[in-house]
Amino acid sequence: MAIMPKTITLPGLVDPHVHLRDPGQTHKEDFLTGTSAALAGGFTTVLDMPNNAEPITTLERLEAKIASAKQQVVSDISFHFGTLGNNFDEFPKVIDKVSGLKVYLNVTTGNFIIDAERLIDIYRAWPSNKPILLHAEDDVSELVGKTLRAVPKATHVCHVSSQAELELVIRSKDAGLPITCGVTPHHLFLTDKDAERLRAYGHMKPSLKPQIDQDFLWQHLDYIDVIESDHAPHTRAEKDSDTPPFGVPGLETTLPLMLTAEAEGRLTMKQLIEKLHTNPARIFKTPIDDDTVVTIDMDEYELSNDQLKTKAGWTPFAGRRVVGKVSQVTIRSNEVFKNGVVSALPGSGIIL
Ligand code: DOR
Ligand code: ZN
Repeated sequence: MAIMPKTITLPGLVDPHVHLRDPGQTHKEDFLTGTSAALAGGFTTVLDMPNNAEPITTLERLEAKIASAKQQVVSDISFHFGTLGNNFDEFPKVIDKVSGLKVYLNVTTGNFIIDAERLIDIYRAWPSNKPILLHAEDDVSELVGKTLRAVPKATHVCHVSSQAELELVIRSKDAGLPITCGVTPHHLFLTDKDAERLRAYGHMKPSLKPQIDQDFLWQHLDYIDVIESDHAPHTRAEKDSDTPPFGVPGLETTLPLMLTAEAEGRLTMKQLIEKLHTNPARIFKTPIDDDTVVTIDMDEYELSNDQLKTKAGWTPFAGRRVVGKVSQVTIRSNEVFKNGVVSALPGSGIIL
């Protein structure tokens, strides 16, 4: 029998899709708890989404967000800007301060959605090749291909969850269009069957899909550039309410789920590093540092709701047996996390 190494070391992981809720909804998460969850999950850089209570669609709001983050973050962080299609004057003012532009073409948390006809105007107005990130589920994905052919700007399709969506990405890639995509761990490890059991705790956008869609994602891993957590914390009280919001936390479970899949032979370690480090760093132009590393204990254990750093305090993966617990994180040669404890001082992370 092959002897498994007890610990492994990976480069600091990059999650280009998190919702840290700060400012505005800090009862769900804040920059300190969100970046602490990132470290506990092996992520040394996170890119935060703009669908805050007041969406980040102006320079002023972006600067307020950055000022709040500066005091709190224990990992490195950058931000995506938001648009409802009516803030084009702000684009040149923020372009050097953000990693991308997020556009919602479907309804989700924050009711932050644009008219489909405005998409092409947004593409024309965005003044650089920093990626445009699209929330574009099934019925709108044709529009994406059409828009990209007319204005071929770097585009990242977020949380691809179905065969139809991934086929659109595959066709666009094969046609040479500048498109990348991400898939979440919940779409790789949960299906609509789990949604019945999890009820509101398995309720997110895009929704959990049938096994056949999940199988298609696994069969076409080479077309998936990034594994992104879509960390979207909500409190238990909110999830237990009559109108539960969309979203599940993911920063602390993504790496163990992927390492377990690697141990089972479902992907290689090379693919895992590409999708959690190399590709997101390249696509979103975050710096790579050889002295930013994560040490992981490869003993088996059970994911649990206890001792999570996220304020949500729960995970849809509780009870699942996995390998891979982050034991130590080092950023630029400084120890920032060890054995469950964040040692970095609030504010010591860098705003990229
Ligand atoms: O499930 C989701 N939750 N999907 C999204 O697109 C947004 C996110 C959130 O902010 O809660
Ligand atoms: Zn999201």
